[in-house]
Amino acid sequence: SSSSKVLVHFVNQSGVKSSVYVSEGDSLLDVVIKKNLDISGFGACEGTLACSTCHLIFEEKVFEKLEPVVDEEVDMLDLAYGLTRTSRLGCQVTVQRWMDGMTVRVPHEIKDLRGNLDAVNSK
Ligand code: FES
Repeated sequence: SSSSKVLVHFVNQSGVKSSVYVSEGDSLLDVVIKKNLDISGFGACEGTLACSTCHLIFEEKVFEKLEPVVDEEVDMLDLAYGLTRTSRLGCQVTVQRWMDGMTVRVPHEIKDLRGNLDAVNSK
């Protein structure tokens, strides 16, 4: 039921907010795909830590409570555009109950480190 869902607000590149109820245990990349959120180019590598297009900016209070970042994620984040102190990769962050009501923001620019989105878009 929806009472077991977690409310997450996404603010896309254009500043448009989408509020969705999502399942615990899904990554934020899963959420964007399942809810069909309008975030262009998001999740190009499908969560394999090879792009950084899933870059999301978290609220300070949420960021501090996230699971620790692994080296591979740090490497990708280093290459992301618009990196902030509270940036993480959405495919590496799993929705948990305590996140209920959080807002995540998409940076204005994203960069696909593979340099070519065609392979993904033509699927
Ligand atoms: Fe590519 Fe997250 S989807 S690193």
